[in-house]
Amino acid sequence: MKNTKLVVSTKKVEEYSGDLLVTLVALDEQGGYVGDDYFRPLLESLVQYKEFSGKKDEQIQLYPPFGPFFGKLKCRRLLLVGLGCLNAITDLNVKKELLRTAGGAIAAQCKSNKVTNVGICMPNYSGLPDITIGEFLSEGILLGDYRFLKYKTKKKDEDGYAGLTKIELLATTHVKAIRSGATKASNSAKAVITARDMANEPGNGLTPSHFSQYAIGLAESLPLRCTILEKKDMIDLGLGGIIAVNQGSDEPPKVVILEYSPKQKGETILLVGKGLTFDSGGVSLKPAQGMMDMKYDMCGGAAVLAAMEAVGREKPAVRVVAIVPATDNMAGGGALKPGDIITHYGGITSEIESTDAEGRLILADALAYGIEKFHPDCVIDLATLTGSAIFALGHHYCALLSNNDKLAEKLIAVGTACAEPLWRLPLGEMYVKQIKSQVADIKNTGGKPAGCITAAEYLHQFVGSTPWAHLDIAGTAWDFSEKTYIPKGPSGFGVRILIEFLRRWETCNFPTVD
Ligand code: BES
Ligand code: MN
Ligand code: ZN
Repeated sequence: MKNTKLVVSTKKVEEYSGDLLVTLVALDEQGGYVGDDYFRPLLESLVQYKEFSGKKDEQIQLYPPFGPFFGKLKCRRLLLVGLGCLNAITDLNVKKELLRTAGGAIAAQCKSNKVTNVGICMPNYSGLPDITIGEFLSEGILLGDYRFLKYKTKKKDEDGYAGLTKIELLATTHVKAIRSGATKASNSAKAVITARDMANEPGNGLTPSHFSQYAIGLAESLPLRCTILEKKDMIDLGLGGIIAVNQGSDEPPKVVILEYSPKQKGETILLVGKGLTFDSGGVSLKPAQGMMDMKYDMCGGAAVLAAMEAVGREKPAVRVVAIVPATDNMAGGGALKPGDIITHYGGITSEIESTDAEGRLILADALAYGIEKFHPDCVIDLATLTGSAIFALGHHYCALLSNNDKLAEKLIAVGTACAEPLWRLPLGEMYVKQIKSQVADIKNTGGKPAGCITAAEYLHQFVGSTPWAHLDIAGTAWDFSEKTYIPKGPSGFGVRILIEFLRRWETCNFPTVD
């Protein structure tokens, strides 16, 4: 992974000698300029010649000499970025998103000029808390600057560019607050980048063993404890769903467990992620077209492990346990067959109607095992679980299903704040009926209608009364809404939700469900 430095420096604007200096320009309600006084004379002349007005999404790049006002500037280029009328926006979440988007646009401009060092003047006006500007602009730049070059022998884009190496936030006031915002942005962005990198790995590049290696590595460098359940452990424990899905594969399955425990004993949050490193469908084989995308079927697992990286750095005051059941779904000679009956951890039996509905099989075991072993106060799972989630919500909202209104509400609020929007779908006994089996307790498909809900109801059978939320990220894990800071390909969706949810955690006040 590329390691872009994000630093806050107290350099004066004139002292910055990097490739590109950026200044932000907002407008007040009268259309007047709100920004750094230093640039006011320049702005006024640009406005006079109608070159630039400060509207949202507007940019202008200038080269030296910068005219009579700025003989002293040492940067190679100067970029003015318009933010529009910030004061007219009352919703802080909308402002945050505007900044992320502006950050993504700055990263794009850096790419087109092959800029490696960028300096951003932190404006000294009060339209937004300074901490917010630095944090969300940096998040947008770091996420927008993402590229996956591991398998390119030249380690560069087609145009020879390898991305930013240093971002400097130039601040003269509120330096401490801006630093802490920058640290948060860097922790979130690094975790998202980890998740995107994992997702970009093909099925032969990231196997269940690579998942476990990654977690072991994290536990060596951060205050996390890693346990790997091997196939024999799974057989001993009775994790029948994972064993069943893995039957047709030559790659050994792994259950990856990472635990973070604060000094003070307290509540526990359990995160579970689907780590299906390639989903061929198994014997219920998927059509060839689009099958390649099923290398992304591990995005839930990647999100959960990546969030643990941030947890290890930020050390929240709550215990966090992550479990990723990891296997691929192949159609080898020993593979699971339609009609087979399996027994999950805890004893529930399930009739396999389609071997392609494999995500719920591995998640059911992980949820049941995790809840019994760690007694969490709440559980959140992330999974690219159903095509049905895409039919329902497209690529713009992620489906949320939960047995607990308060937990669902909190997650929706966090999703909105992160611009990773969630839309809640219902659960209900009438959907459970669709997964009743003639010969076993349940079956693993519920027919065409409401496929996203019946999949969630399958999982629901394994969580008991623990407050639980399920995020079906099938539509958002890749091809997520086009934005300046969301690249084509995997988005890292859900990582920022998890991190923000944990940052906001104070105490569990979710009533348990009966
Ligand atoms: N991984 C897929 C779901 C998926 C499909 C995610 C397309 C993203 C894009 C999952 O394992 C699956 O195959 N689900 C089936 C379930 C069905 C057989 C009940 C589906 O959604 O078609
Ligand atoms: Mn499948
Ligand atoms: Zn799958």
